[in-house]
Amino acid sequence: MALGLVRVSIILGLASSVVLAQLSGSVGPTTPTSEKQATICNVLDYGGEIGSSDIGPAIGNAFTECVLNNSGSTLYVPEGNYDMKTWQILSGGTKWAFQMDGVITRASTAGGNMIVIENADDFEFFSSNSAGAIQGLGYQCRNTGPRLLRIETSTNYSVHDIILVDSPEFHLVIQQGSNGEIYNMAIRGTNLGGSDGIDVWGDNYWIHDVEVTNRDECVTVKSPSTNILVERIWCNQSGGSAIGSLGTGTAIENILYRNVYTNGGNQIFMIKSNGGSGYLKNVLLQNFIARGTAYGLDVDQFWSGTSTAAGDGVQLTNITFENWDGAVVDGVQRSPIQFLCVGDVPCTEMTLSNVNLWSATDEATNKCESAFGVGSCLQSGDASSYAVTITSITEPAGFTTPPTLTGDLSSGFSTDSSIPIPTIPSTFFPGLPQISPLAKNL
Ligand SMILES: *[C@@H]1O[C@H](CO)[C@@H](O)[C@H](O)[C@H]1NC(C)=O
Ligand SMILES: *[C@@H]1O[C@H](CO)[C@@H](O)[C@H](O)[C@H]1NC(C)=O
Ligand SMILES: *[C@@H]1O[C@H](CO)[C@@H](O)[C@H](O)[C@H]1NC(C)=O
Ligand SMILES: *[C@@H]1O[C@H](CO)[C@@H](O)[C@H](O)[C@H]1NC(C)=O
Repeated sequence: MALGLVRVSIILGLASSVVLAQLSGSVGPTTPTSEKQATICNVLDYGGEIGSSDIGPAIGNAFTECVLNNSGSTLYVPEGNYDMKTWQILSGGTKWAFQMDGVITRASTAGGNMIVIENADDFEFFSSNSAGAIQGLGYQCRNTGPRLLRIETSTNYSVHDIILVDSPEFHLVIQQGSNGEIYNMAIRGTNLGGSDGIDVWGDNYWIHDVEVTNRDECVTVKSPSTNILVERIWCNQSGGSAIGSLGTGTAIENILYRNVYTNGGNQIFMIKSNGGSGYLKNVLLQNFIARGTAYGLDVDQFWSGTSTAAGDGVQLTNITFENWDGAVVDGVQRSPIQFLCVGDVPCTEMTLSNVNLWSATDEATNKCESAFGVGSCLQSGDASSYAVTITSITEPAGFTTPPTLTGDLSSGFSTDSSIPIPTIPSTFFPGLPQISPLAKNL
């Protein structure tokens, strides 16, 4: 929405100073939705029909013949079911909206992206009924079909009230661009790797009130990135959120994640790399609640999940972990806290503050290597490298059993049959309301 910062300062009161410091300016479209309704570019007027076996060409025609010809227009996909076989790249629109109130189902196995929005400015992708969805039926072409939605090099925009289900590959990719707001989303992928929820890199992004169920990235920041605020995120049996993987020439700074709830899955939060160069600095990871993850707080610069990138290692500096409460599945097999940093480029200024991570087995270790700062097994100073230390720990005094959310998963979704389309929840973190109401309730 326009004037996002003003809205936040009203809603969050004192917390707004953090928001202001975090984002570098306003996010979302510069003009309101109503100003884009002067011209409605309805796909049904451009060769589409409800029940269509390929709604792709009608979307493309409505865009080139109507949206591009009319500043202040809305490409409209009315409620109803549509199949889609021809992927669309919608390039260069200004002051426009894509209102997707229908459900589009993937009907081709071609790779790429079903819908790409690129070089858009003053843009909004949303459903007014909070029920617009893309159904990827990923089980039919796992890791070989398309990604669902990609927003590339766009500015001043929002994506909200959209449901993305079972992508054959990643669900939502935000590639470069700036001043974006992503919120009120439900993403449901399968219980396998390669099913990323949201991957984002760029400048000045606010991502909030998102639920991701899958077995890979929940909401993950990649390089290069600056001024990114991620909050009220529900990772429901997901892989967990991360920064990475970090490669050669990494440049990421000023990142804030707060109020992140993770139930099951791989990690509470991971910073991951293998070789590489550049920096990740000025990061605050605040108010994390988690239960039943395999890994906990996991900084791993020897991550085997990615091939070794050129460089001595990425410099990690000034990263604070504050107010964490959670339990991993087996804290001896996988330490709830581990900092594995490369000797050539040790991690410095790592700070743990009120981090209470424990194990469902009531036994745990922590693990540190070439990592400096305050808390857990971090060593003071920043002098030189040191070998890995593994130490048995006792239950942290501040540990309390993390609360649950209604709708928590006990197991992931099937890998070989269709995943149902959910509704978008209205709570994404225990005890906190969503920041903006669902569009259907406006
Ligand atoms: C609308 O756009 C199309 C394709 O860009 C173009 O061929 C056509 O002349 C335009 N029509 C008007 C009325 O501007
Ligand atoms: C995005 O909006 C800002 C004002 O909020 C404006 O300065 C900037 O020019 C806009 N970006 C583009 C590409 O128009
Ligand atoms: C460390 O990072 C925080 C943000 O997490 C920032 O406010 C602070 O200024 C940074 N400190 C330095 C010395 O850059
Ligand atoms: C989390 O997963 C469970 C189990 O399938 C599901 O019932 C619940 O709706 C999911 N939560 C959300 C918010 O989608």
